[in-house]
Amino acid sequence: MTGIIRWTDRLHSLQVDAPEVTFVAGQFGRLALPAPPGSKEEMLGRPYSFVNAPGTSPHEFYFVTVPEGPLSPQLAALEPGGPVWLLRNANGFFTIGEVPAADALWCLATGTGLGPFLSILRTPDPWEKFSRIVLVQAVRHPFELAYREVIASIGAAHPGAFTFIPMVSREPHAGALGGRIPAAILDGRLESRAGLALSAENSHAMLCGNPAMVDDTQKALAARGMRRHRRKEPGHVTIETYW
Ligand SMILES: Cc1cc2nc3c(=O)[nH]c(=O)nc-3n(C[C@H](O)[C@H](O)[C@H](O)COP(=O)(O)OP(=O)(O)OC[C@H]3O[C@@H](n4cnc5c(N)ncnc54)[C@H](O)[C@@H]3O)c2cc1C
Ligand SMILES: NC(=O)c1ccc[n+]([C@@H]2O[C@H](COP(=O)([O-])OP(=O)(O)OC[C@H]3O[C@@H](n4cnc5c(N)ncnc54)[C@H](OP(=O)(O)O)[C@@H]3O)[C@@H](O)[C@H]2O)c1
Repeated sequence: MTGIIRWTDRLHSLQVDAPEVTFVAGQFGRLALPAPPGSKEEMLGRPYSFVNAPGTSPHEFYFVTVPEGPLSPQLAALEPGGPVWLLRNANGFFTIGEVPAADALWCLATGTGLGPFLSILRTPDPWEKFSRIVLVQAVRHPFELAYREVIASIGAAHPGAFTFIPMVSREPHAGALGGRIPAAILDGRLESRAGLALSAENSHAMLCGNPAMVDDTQKALAARGMRRHRRKEPGHVTIETYW
């Protein structure tokens, strides 16, 4: 491990120096630590999405501490230079190569579900495939709006093509939409903030994070005729759930 960014007492980014591990933007790797004594397995591992762009170093993983969880509190307790294992193989289909072309790409994230979008949006691929890209970062509180500088640099690299919409659900925050993503789709606030239609005709949506958000958002999108994308049955919605 090379470093750890502490965004809040529960939100951290782990930086791991392992250039031999390769991945496609949007995929996840597996971080592991030695399992507690008496465990059946030698190592305790969990999947985490890469936040850095492929080919860059160090690898970075944005995660939240789940206090009762077996691994995330141990990862959060690591100090710079401490040991962590990153498995060699990356996996997952939450990648731009799996997404059909459209005018607009909507990247809808709750919490640490932001991570894979930061990797994807730091590669050229989505900008070649879509003329407009909207990134929504939905959190409970303003102090959880992490990665502001990275998001600003993505915007600066793609003027006119990129719209960032922060959402804060549990208190008012200047510049952010209130409430949750599905409600903001249903009442039209997301579209009006982006200045862009969200429809089966012009859009593809990628959803990542809280599985309840992914379910509820799929329902809101279904009301617009947008259905789940599958290789054999092309659609308008691609999902990744974290639990
Ligand atoms: C494909 C995939 C990619 C993932 N990528 C990330 C990532 O980039 N960042 C990240 O923080 N987590 C990610 N996760 C979740 C991660 O693998 C762990 O589950 C999480 O860190 C908790 O680990 P744990 O061992 O402490 O508890 P677990 O036993 O793994 O989980 C306990 C409970 O914590 C809750 N939980 C788990 N993950 C989250 C989360 N991210 N946000 C809120 N609540 C959660 C759920 O209620 C879960 O049942 C990913 C999961 C999957 C399946
Ligand atoms: N963030 C904290 O301060 C805090 C404190 C204690 C425990 N935790 C635990 O930490 C973990 C991660 O918390 P988190 O805040 O990163 O993630 P989270 O609970 O997924 O919340 C992130 C955002 O997703 C929204 N959301 C939740 N359910 C949704 C749904 N069905 N549809 C649409 N949006 C939805 C939340 O809105 P709402 O605010 O409306 O729910 C919030 O804006 C969870 O296990 C949580 O229980 C977090």
